[in-house]
Amino acid sequence: MKKYILDLVIKEKVTLNDNYVLLKATHPQPLPEMLPGQFAELRVDGSVTTFLRRPISINYVDRTKNEVWFLIQLVGDGTRRLAMLSEGDLLNTVLPLGNTFTLPEKKEERLLLVGGGVGTAPMLYLGDELKKKGFRPHFLLGGRTRAGMLQLEEFACIGEVFVTTEDGTLGEKGYVTQHSVLSQTHFDRIYTCGPKPMMMAVARYAKERNIFCEVSLENTMACGIGACLCCVEKTTKGNLCVCTEGPIFNIEQLTWQI
Ligand code: FES
Repeated sequence: MKKYILDLVIKEKVTLNDNYVLLKATHPQPLPEMLPGQFAELRVDGSVTTFLRRPISINYVDRTKNEVWFLIQLVGDGTRRLAMLSEGDLLNTVLPLGNTFTLPEKKEERLLLVGGGVGTAPMLYLGDELKKKGFRPHFLLGGRTRAGMLQLEEFACIGEVFVTTEDGTLGEKGYVTQHSVLSQTHFDRIYTCGPKPMMMAVARYAKERNIFCEVSLENTMACGIGACLCCVEKTTKGNLCVCTEGPIFNIEQLTWQI
Protein backbone atom coordinates (compact mmCIF):
# COMPACT_ATOMS: atom_id res chain seq x y z
CA MET A 1 0.00 0.00 0.00
CA LYS A 2 1.18 3.49 -0.76
CA LYS A 3 2.49 5.37 2.27
CA TYR A 4 1.94 9.03 2.90
CA ILE A 5 3.67 11.73 4.91
CA LEU A 6 0.89 14.00 6.06
CA ASP A 7 0.57 17.03 8.28
CA LEU A 8 -2.60 16.09 10.09
CA VAL A 9 -4.51 18.68 12.08
CA ILE A 10 -5.59 17.89 15.64
CA LYS A 11 -9.36 18.23 15.74
CA GLU A 12 -9.92 17.07 19.28
CA LYS A 13 -7.92 15.81 22.24
CA VAL A 14 -9.67 13.66 24.84
CA THR A 15 -7.92 12.91 28.13
CA LEU A 16 -9.16 9.42 29.01
CA ASN A 17 -7.30 9.12 32.32
CA ASP A 18 -3.90 9.97 33.83
CA ASN A 19 -2.11 7.62 31.43
CA TYR A 20 -4.00 7.83 28.16
CA VAL A 21 -4.93 10.55 25.70
CA LEU A 22 -6.97 10.15 22.54
CA LEU A 23 -5.98 12.35 19.61
CA LYS A 24 -8.53 12.79 16.83
CA ALA A 25 -6.85 14.18 13.73
CA THR A 26 -8.00 15.24 10.29
CA HIS A 27 -6.59 16.55 7.02
CA PRO A 28 -7.85 19.03 4.42
CA GLN A 29 -7.84 16.21 1.83
CA PRO A 30 -9.61 12.84 2.25
CA LEU A 31 -7.48 10.57 4.42
CA PRO A 32 -5.84 7.65 2.60
CA GLU A 33 -7.01 4.07 2.95
CA MET A 34 -6.00 2.56 6.30
CA LEU A 35 -6.65 -1.01 7.36
CA PRO A 36 -7.28 -2.47 10.83
CA GLY A 37 -4.01 -3.44 12.50
CA GLN A 38 -1.94 -0.88 10.63
CA PHE A 39 -0.10 1.87 12.42
CA ALA A 40 1.38 5.32 11.90
CA GLU A 41 4.73 6.84 12.83
CA LEU A 42 4.10 10.13 14.58
CA ARG A 43 6.78 12.82 14.61
CA VAL A 44 7.48 14.33 18.00
CA ASP A 45 8.17 18.03 17.70
CA GLY A 46 9.72 20.22 20.38
CA SER A 47 11.55 17.49 22.31
CA VAL A 48 15.30 17.56 22.94
CA THR A 49 15.36 13.86 23.88
CA THR A 50 13.03 12.23 21.32
CA PHE A 51 14.44 12.11 17.80
CA LEU A 52 12.58 9.10 16.46
CA ARG A 53 8.96 9.01 15.47
CA ARG A 54 6.61 7.06 17.71
CA PRO A 55 4.74 4.04 16.28
CA ILE A 56 1.07 4.33 17.23
CA SER A 57 -1.77 2.00 16.21
CA ILE A 58 -4.65 3.28 14.19
CA ASN A 59 -7.39 3.27 16.79
CA TYR A 60 -10.31 4.22 14.58
CA VAL A 61 -11.07 5.83 11.22
CA ASP A 62 -14.23 7.91 10.91
CA ARG A 63 -14.75 8.41 7.18
CA THR A 64 -17.81 10.63 7.61
CA LYS A 65 -15.76 13.10 9.64
CA ASN A 66 -12.48 12.38 7.77
CA GLU A 67 -10.82 11.58 11.12
CA VAL A 68 -8.18 9.14 12.27
CA TRP A 69 -7.82 8.43 15.99
CA PHE A 70 -4.65 7.64 17.90
CA LEU A 71 -4.69 6.31 21.45
CA ILE A 72 -1.54 7.53 23.17
CA GLN A 73 -0.20 5.87 26.31
CA LEU A 74 1.98 8.29 28.24
CA VAL A 75 5.13 6.27 28.79
CA GLY A 76 7.97 8.66 28.09
CA ASP A 77 8.99 12.09 26.91
CA GLY A 78 7.89 11.42 23.32
CA THR A 79 4.38 10.32 24.10
CA ARG A 80 4.00 13.05 26.73
CA ARG A 81 4.92 15.61 24.06
CA LEU A 82 2.33 14.13 21.73
CA ALA A 83 -0.24 14.39 24.51
CA MET A 84 0.53 18.12 24.80
CA LEU A 85 -0.83 18.74 21.30
CA SER A 86 -4.08 20.63 21.24
CA GLU A 87 -6.82 21.53 18.79
CA GLY A 88 -5.46 23.09 15.62
CA ASP A 89 -1.88 21.85 16.10
CA LEU A 90 -0.18 19.95 13.28
CA LEU A 91 0.84 16.31 13.70
CA ASN A 92 3.28 15.03 11.10
CA THR A 93 2.60 11.36 10.37
CA VAL A 94 3.76 8.58 8.08
CA LEU A 95 0.92 6.19 7.35
CA PRO A 96 -0.41 3.60 6.80
CA LEU A 97 2.35 1.19 7.91
CA GLY A 98 2.37 -2.57 8.45
CA ASN A 99 -0.03 -5.31 7.44
CA THR A 100 -3.59 -6.03 8.46
CA PHE A 101 -5.69 -8.75 10.09
CA THR A 102 -7.09 -11.61 8.02
CA LEU A 103 -10.82 -11.07 7.96
CA PRO A 104 -13.15 -14.07 8.13
CA GLU A 105 -15.02 -15.30 5.09
CA LYS A 106 -18.02 -17.03 6.63
CA LYS A 107 -20.66 -14.82 8.22
CA GLU A 108 -21.49 -17.48 10.82
CA GLU A 109 -17.98 -17.43 12.32
CA ARG A 110 -17.89 -16.36 15.95
CA LEU A 111 -15.19 -13.79 16.45
CA LEU A 112 -13.38 -12.81 19.63
CA LEU A 113 -11.21 -9.71 19.82
CA VAL A 114 -9.02 -9.69 22.91
CA GLY A 115 -7.25 -6.52 24.05
CA GLY A 116 -5.26 -5.46 27.08
CA GLY A 117 -4.06 -1.98 27.99
CA VAL A 118 -3.09 0.10 24.98
CA GLY A 119 -3.47 -3.11 22.97
CA THR A 120 -7.21 -2.49 22.93
CA ALA A 121 -6.56 0.36 20.45
CA PRO A 122 -6.46 -1.61 17.17
CA MET A 123 -9.39 -3.78 18.30
CA LEU A 124 -11.82 -0.85 18.02
CA TYR A 125 -11.07 -0.25 14.34
CA LEU A 126 -10.97 -3.98 13.60
CA GLY A 127 -14.31 -4.49 15.34
CA ASP A 128 -15.86 -1.61 13.43
CA GLU A 129 -14.69 -2.98 10.08
CA LEU A 130 -16.01 -6.43 10.98
CA LYS A 131 -19.36 -4.94 11.94
CA LYS A 132 -19.55 -3.05 8.65
CA LYS A 133 -19.00 -6.35 6.83
CA GLY A 134 -21.92 -7.95 8.65
CA PHE A 135 -20.12 -9.73 11.51
CA ARG A 136 -20.92 -9.25 15.16
CA PRO A 137 -17.61 -9.17 17.05
CA HIS A 138 -17.24 -10.05 20.71
CA PHE A 139 -14.67 -8.09 22.69
CA LEU A 140 -12.79 -9.39 25.70
CA LEU A 141 -10.96 -6.49 27.29
CA GLY A 142 -8.63 -6.60 30.26
CA GLY A 143 -6.95 -4.11 32.53
CA ARG A 144 -5.57 -3.71 36.01
CA THR A 145 -8.41 -1.58 37.36
CA ARG A 146 -11.70 -0.02 36.31
CA ALA A 147 -9.95 3.33 35.81
CA GLY A 148 -7.61 1.73 33.30
CA MET A 149 -10.34 0.44 30.99
CA LEU A 150 -10.54 2.43 27.79
CA GLN A 151 -13.29 3.33 25.28
CA LEU A 152 -15.81 0.85 26.68
CA GLU A 153 -18.75 2.84 25.32
CA GLU A 154 -17.30 2.80 21.82
CA PHE A 155 -16.73 -0.95 21.99
CA ALA A 156 -20.27 -1.52 23.23
CA CYS A 157 -21.65 0.27 20.14
CA ILE A 158 -19.95 -2.31 17.93
CA GLY A 159 -20.39 -5.65 19.68
CA GLU A 160 -20.75 -7.56 22.92
CA VAL A 161 -18.17 -6.61 25.53
CA PHE A 162 -16.68 -8.81 28.27
CA VAL A 163 -14.32 -7.28 30.80
CA THR A 164 -11.79 -8.47 33.33
CA THR A 165 -9.85 -6.38 35.82
CA GLU A 166 -7.05 -7.68 37.99
CA ASP A 167 -8.53 -6.07 41.09
CA GLY A 168 -12.13 -6.96 40.26
CA THR A 169 -13.33 -3.34 40.14
CA LEU A 170 -15.04 -3.97 36.79
CA GLY A 171 -16.20 -7.17 35.14
CA GLU A 172 -14.78 -10.49 36.26
CA LYS A 173 -11.74 -10.48 38.51
CA GLY A 174 -8.56 -11.85 36.97
CA TYR A 175 -6.94 -12.02 33.56
CA VAL A 176 -8.69 -12.14 30.20
CA THR A 177 -7.90 -15.82 29.76
CA GLN A 178 -9.77 -16.55 33.00
CA HIS A 179 -13.04 -14.98 31.82
CA SER A 180 -16.00 -17.36 31.95
CA VAL A 181 -17.02 -16.59 28.34
CA LEU A 182 -14.06 -18.62 27.16
CA SER A 183 -15.42 -21.77 28.77
CA GLN A 184 -19.03 -21.08 27.79
CA THR A 185 -18.72 -20.05 24.15
CA HIS A 186 -16.91 -21.51 21.18
CA PHE A 187 -15.12 -18.98 19.03
CA ASP A 188 -13.90 -19.72 15.50
CA ARG A 189 -11.41 -16.91 15.27
CA ILE A 190 -9.45 -14.88 17.80
CA TYR A 191 -7.56 -11.64 17.29
CA THR A 192 -5.46 -10.20 20.09
CA CYS A 193 -3.22 -7.30 21.01
CA GLY A 194 -1.73 -6.33 24.36
CA PRO A 195 1.09 -7.22 26.74
CA LYS A 196 3.13 -10.19 25.51
CA PRO A 197 2.25 -12.49 28.46
CA MET A 198 -1.44 -11.85 27.75
CA MET A 199 -1.07 -12.55 24.04
CA MET A 200 0.90 -15.71 24.78
CA ALA A 201 -1.85 -16.93 27.11
CA VAL A 202 -4.50 -16.17 24.47
CA ALA A 203 -2.39 -17.90 21.82
CA ARG A 204 -2.05 -20.96 24.08
CA TYR A 205 -5.83 -21.06 24.58
CA ALA A 206 -6.37 -20.88 20.80
CA LYS A 207 -3.69 -23.40 19.94
CA GLU A 208 -5.00 -25.98 22.41
CA ARG A 209 -8.41 -25.76 20.72
CA ASN A 210 -7.13 -25.44 17.17
CA ILE A 211 -8.69 -21.98 16.79
CA PHE A 212 -7.42 -19.55 14.14
CA CYS A 213 -5.59 -16.79 16.00
CA GLU A 214 -3.72 -13.67 14.96
CA VAL A 215 -1.72 -11.46 17.29
CA SER A 216 -0.60 -7.87 16.84
CA LEU A 217 2.97 -7.65 18.08
CA GLU A 218 4.19 -4.57 19.90
CA ASN A 219 7.94 -5.05 19.50
CA THR A 220 10.07 -1.96 20.01
CA MET A 221 10.22 0.01 16.79
CA ALA A 222 12.30 2.89 15.53
CA CYS A 223 12.26 3.52 11.77
CA GLY A 224 8.98 1.73 11.03
CA ILE A 225 10.05 0.98 7.46
CA GLY A 226 12.31 -2.07 7.72
CA ALA A 227 15.63 -0.20 7.83
CA CYS A 228 16.92 -0.43 11.43
CA LEU A 229 16.07 -4.10 12.24
CA CYS A 230 15.29 -3.25 15.87
CA CYS A 231 11.82 -4.83 15.67
CA VAL A 232 12.84 -8.28 14.41
CA GLU A 233 10.79 -11.29 15.55
CA LYS A 234 11.82 -14.92 15.16
CA THR A 235 9.27 -16.76 13.06
CA THR A 236 8.94 -20.04 11.21
CA LYS A 237 10.00 -18.10 8.09
CA GLY A 238 13.13 -16.72 9.76
CA ASN A 239 13.66 -13.32 11.36
CA LEU A 240 11.02 -10.88 10.18
CA CYS A 241 10.62 -7.15 10.79
CA VAL A 242 7.44 -6.55 12.73
CA CYS A 243 7.09 -3.10 11.17
CA THR A 244 6.95 -4.35 7.58
CA GLU A 245 6.01 -8.05 7.75
CA GLY A 246 3.72 -7.48 10.73
CA PRO A 247 2.59 -6.28 13.17
CA ILE A 248 -0.07 -8.97 12.60
CA PHE A 249 1.11 -12.58 12.70
CA ASN A 250 -0.75 -15.87 12.78
CA ILE A 251 0.31 -17.74 15.91
CA GLU A 252 1.42 -20.65 13.71
CA GLN A 253 4.16 -18.38 12.34
CA LEU A 254 5.58 -17.52 15.75
CA THR A 255 8.21 -19.52 17.61
CA TRP A 256 6.77 -18.69 21.04
CA GLN A 257 6.82 -21.58 23.48
CA ILE A 258 3.08 -21.60 24.07
FE1 FES B 1 13.12 -0.35 12.01
FE2 FES B 1 11.25 -2.25 12.06
S1 FES B 1 11.33 -0.46 13.22
S2 FES B 1 13.12 -2.24 10.98
